[in-house]
Amino acid sequence: MTATNDFIPTTPYTHNIEKGIFQWSAPSNIALVKYWGKRDDLGHQIPANPSISFTLNNCKTITSVAFEKKVNQDNWSFDLLFEGQPKEEFKPKIQKFLERIAPYMPFLKDYHFTINTQNTFPHSSGIASSASGMAALAMNFMSIEKELHPEMTEEYFYQKASFLARLGSGSACRSIKGNLVVWGNQENIEGSSNLFGVPFSGKVHSVFENYQDTILLVDKGEKQVSSTVGHDLMHNHPFAERRFEQAHENIDQLIPIFETGDLEAFIKIVESEALTLHAMMMTSMPYFILMKPNTLQIINTIWKFRKETNIPVCFTLDAGANVHVLYPEHTKEKVLQFIKNELVGYCQNGQYLCDQIGFGAATL
Ligand code: PMV
Repeated sequence: MTATNDFIPTTPYTHNIEKGIFQWSAPSNIALVKYWGKRDDLGHQIPANPSISFTLNNCKTITSVAFEKKVNQDNWSFDLLFEGQPKEEFKPKIQKFLERIAPYMPFLKDYHFTINTQNTFPHSSGIASSASGMAALAMNFMSIEKELHPEMTEEYFYQKASFLARLGSGSACRSIKGNLVVWGNQENIEGSSNLFGVPFSGKVHSVFENYQDTILLVDKGEKQVSSTVGHDLMHNHPFAERRFEQAHENIDQLIPIFETGDLEAFIKIVESEALTLHAMMMTSMPYFILMKPNTLQIINTIWKFRKETNIPVCFTLDAGANVHVLYPEHTKEKVLQFIKNELVGYCQNGQYLCDQIGFGAATL
C-alpha cells in the first residue's frame, strides 16, 4: 500500500451484517525521534519528518463500538460514552474523525454506533489520550470492515488501521502494532510511509526488551499551546528545514544503535531529540515554553545521577511538562529507588506512572 487511494474499497462489501460489537485496547506511545511539523500541502496529517517511538504497555485506551443497521442512511449517528456515561464534549472530535475517515469506510452511515471509551491512566494526568484513543477507535472500525469484507489480509487490516488512526491524530498511527514503530518516509527503512506507522524491522538488541518508561507527572494542567498550533508554527520556522533533516539523520543513527544496544549513543540521540523539540517551540513565532521549572530540575537530577552511578537512565519529553524516564529493565530497582528518593518531590502531588514497552493494540 503506497497511496491514499489504496485504502478506498473498490468493490462492494461481500457480507451483510445487521449488528455487533467489538472492543479493542490501544496504548499510548512515546517518540524517541519526534514528529513536529506537518506537510499540509500533501494532505491531512502528513509529517514533515519521520519519527520513531516506543509503544507503551500500561497507559492505554479501551474502547468498545456497538453497531446496528439503521434505516436513514443520510447522516452519521452515534452515542459517545466515557467510562459508561454520556460525554457530549467528546462528540465533536469523534464527528470530525468520522468525517475524515468516511471516504475510506463507505459503511459508516449505514449504522448507528455506540462508542464506549475509557483510559487506564487518570484523565487529568496531562497524558494525551488522543493517540491511544484514536488508535483504539480505528481498530474497532477496522474490525467492523473486516466483518463486511473477511477476505482482507492481515497486512491491509493493520496498515489501514494505522492510516485511519493517523487521520484522527498523527502520532496515533504509531499505537497500532509493534514495540518500536516508524512513521514517515525514511530512505533507509524499507516500507516506511507518511501514511501509516510500520513496526521497525531492523535488529533490536535484548537490552531494549522490556525497556522501562516511568512518566513523572510534573504538570497536569491544560497545555497553553496545543500540538495542532505547535505543528503549525513549524511553517516559516527559521530552523525547520535543518530540523527535518536532523530527524532523518537521527533515525539513521538509531538503526545500528538498536542492533548493538549502545546505550550511551542511544541516550545522546533521545535526550537531544527531546530538547530539540522544545527548542523548536521556544524559537517559534510566537514562541512558547511548555517545560516547567520542575521539568528542568528533574533533567538536571537525572544527569547528576547518571554521572555518579553510570546507570544508563535518560529522559524524553512530549509536548508538555511531564518527563518520561527511560531505562533498561535490569536497572529497574535502582532507578525506581532513585525516582522515589530524588524525583517524586518534583511531581505534582507526588504522582508518576510506571510503564514499559508494549506491543500495540489488542482485541478484548
Ligand atoms: O500527534 P500529535 O499531533 O499530538 O503530535 C505529537 C507530537 C509529539 O508528541 C510532540 C511528538 C511525537 O512524535 O509524538
